Amino acid sequence: PLRVLSGIQPTGRPHWGNYFGAIRQYIDLQEANEGYYFIADLHALTTVRDAAVLRQNVLDTAMDLLALGLDPTKATLFVQSHIPEVSELCWLLLSGTPMGLLQRCVAYKEKVEKGLPADVGLFTYPVLQAADILAYDSQLVPVGADQVQHIEVCRDIASRFNHQFGDTFVLPKANVLDASAKVPGTDGEKMSKSYDNTLPLFGEVKKISKQIMRITTDSRPMEDPKEPEDDHLFQLFRLFGNPDEIDAMAAMYRRGGFGYGDVKKAIAQSSEAYFADAREKRAELEQNVDYVHQVLAEGAEKARNVAAKVLGRAQSACGLR
Ligand code: TYM
Repeated sequence: PLRVLSGIQPTGRPHWGNYFGAIRQYIDLQEANEGYYFIADLHALTTVRDAAVLRQNVLDTAMDLLALGLDPTKATLFVQSHIPEVSELCWLLLSGTPMGLLQRCVAYKEKVEKGLPADVGLFTYPVLQAADILAYDSQLVPVGADQVQHIEVCRDIASRFNHQFGDTFVLPKANVLDASAKVPGTDGEKMSKSYDNTLPLFGEVKKISKQIMRITTDSRPMEDPKEPEDDHLFQLFRLFGNPDEIDAMAAMYRRGGFGYGDVKKAIAQSSEAYFADAREKRAELEQNVDYVHQVLAEGAEKARNVAAKVLGRAQSACGLR
């Protein structure tokens, strides 16, 4: 079994990209491994500036993960800020991280290129993420493609520390699913909370269907055969269909003469069925918030034990103890 760790920011409602890129991996990997999954509220501070909203988002995200199948008897679920050792470790890592390494990171670079003001929190975001990963001796980090750069930065920071002070940190590997590493949004670009192109996992079914019907499509005539792999509508359909349905849909694309509206209807139907159980479970959890808080408290206790040991090891290595 491997030590598996990943985090999700409580910045709004989770979407199909979060689920198929990352959350589904958490759930698959919790069976045979030792999973640590957390809600990255410290990272969310770089964008959420309302205390009540942040508090509610953290609780919502916990319920989302539990409803989707994260099982607290198999994996450890906790809130990032409940483990102060991570912030302490972050400081140890900041010294020794070259400016250039962070200047190359896309989230920061994009903001600066757009002429937007970036704060120091955003700049050092990848170092806190490195602390998250290293604090638990994580071996495998299941994420979508957009996080791979951050895992590489983490490895770089960890090897520098190990090189300087002796073997201290485990070097993690990213785990990315080929078929859903970059789930497209309603405009065909990467689905992202910051692009306003997301399809949510929870929420009113009717509203989600409407959003699905509005997904952009190309204007080529319906009669033309099309290559399914190039089409974002097909990529979304593929997330839900079973292999036979996917083959049949691909054949229809290659034959031509179908309507995009039919594909959208199929996506609406299959996504509704796919998340029906999770929706039901989420409604139950909303009636049992005490249980959710209890899960998070127990998770924090377990996670703190691990992080405290690793922090101690790092402190000794660099001369703080
Ligand atoms: P966040 O909250 O943006 O996203 C959570 C997870 O969802 C994945 N994801 C996607 N996967 C496929 N297609 C998409 N369109 C898509 N959009 C999002 C992300 O890759 C991610 O795995 N920095 C992280 C949170 C974090 C973290 C960590 C992750 C903090 N510390 C330590 C791993 C390890 C983030 O902002 O994820």
